[in-house]
Amino acid sequence: MTLSTQQDSFWDEIVKQTQAKNTTSDKQPFFSLAPMEAVTDTIFRRVVAQAGPPDVYYTEFTNASSMVHPKAKFSVQGRLAVAENEAQPVAQIWGSRPEDIAGAAKILPTMGYRAVDINMGCPDATVIKNGAGSDLIRHDDLAEKIISAAKTSGLPVSVKTRLGFYHAEEFRDWLPIILRQNVAVLTVHLRSRKEMSKAPAHVEYIDEILAMRDKLAPKTLIQINGDIKTRAEGLALAKIHPGIDGIMIGRGIFENPYAFEKIPRQHTLEESIALLKRQLDLFDDVNANVTPKHFEALKRYFKIYLRGFAHASSLRQLLMETHSTTEVRQILTRELARVYEAVASDQHIYRDNAAAIADMAMATAEKHQSAADHKNNS
Ligand SMILES: Cc1cc2nc3c(=O)[nH]c(=O)nc-3n(C[C@H](O)[C@H](O)[C@H](O)COP(=O)(O)O)c2cc1C
Repeated sequence: MTLSTQQDSFWDEIVKQTQAKNTTSDKQPFFSLAPMEAVTDTIFRRVVAQAGPPDVYYTEFTNASSMVHPKAKFSVQGRLAVAENEAQPVAQIWGSRPEDIAGAAKILPTMGYRAVDINMGCPDATVIKNGAGSDLIRHDDLAEKIISAAKTSGLPVSVKTRLGFYHAEEFRDWLPIILRQNVAVLTVHLRSRKEMSKAPAHVEYIDEILAMRDKLAPKTLIQINGDIKTRAEGLALAKIHPGIDGIMIGRGIFENPYAFEKIPRQHTLEESIALLKRQLDLFDDVNANVTPKHFEALKRYFKIYLRGFAHASSLRQLLMETHSTTEVRQILTRELARVYEAVASDQHIYRDNAAAIADMAMATAEKHQSAADHKNNS
């Protein structure tokens, strides 16, 4: 396979497969699960695949320098682990040293990876201090060198970035610089670094971004990210802007593990519990056989599966006090009969019901209240 056909093949396949599954006359964008640090590891990706698979997955971001200098300070352990039976994700890497990016990108194919994504959007202060992530928006000459370095691996290179560092309007200068590098995919999180995830995504700039792509790099696929919660919302956006090639969903998965399903339907509590149990089983397997995992980190997922039914909040509270997956399973066995009985009257509906929203609003209010109490007491 020549270098250029190899570069094209991964994303071509994604586009072709998405179209092949398309039963409508509209062009279908591909959907991806966003890279999320401490979230989108091999465990959670497989849970999402069971709930409703996206077309593309990304790993958590991994520090390129730590990949090539194993004694470097950022952990790489487990971040790039992929199970045999899961879809090969795109590896997202970050860094500011082109030679390390080149070295890291060359390791990836030996691990089975077929595409590499470079993080140029992370707003985290430590990453910025390292001259990486969104800091590259302020150092576009270095950004170009990093892309060239990644290309030496022969893998298709994509970039995920924000509109600007200080202001969203910087995209008019920044995005053309990336587009001129002819990357395979440009993913745009429609906010500036300064806006973090707080301001609403700037959908008003999508058409301008697409026009830039058509003019400067017609082969580059444009993937849009920011505040898109479900496949249905993504399809609605792509209908308004048919030039969009891909839609990336991040936090939407925390509200709805079925965010990618093609025909949205309501799910029973049993189905959600099955997802939680799958996560527990995969956690134990990865922890024993692949890389040590911290049990505490599992707790952030409980509210994805346990919300919007009678006793959800008290069940979550019980689980937050556990110390092992065995304890979680014991509590589920003990409590679920009571919960199922209580939800029988509303047909075990888990998603799309007002109870889920009210339940989470109450949990958030409780959290704020306890933070305020803690502050007042300290
Ligand atoms: C917990 C968490 C971790 C994240 N980690 C990464 C990461 O490793 N790499 C990255 O490019 N973006 C990361 N992001 C940003 C998301 O990929 C995405 O761009 C952002 O959440 C906006 O999309 P959304 O509105 O669909 O969530 C992270 C976001 C969250 C909430």
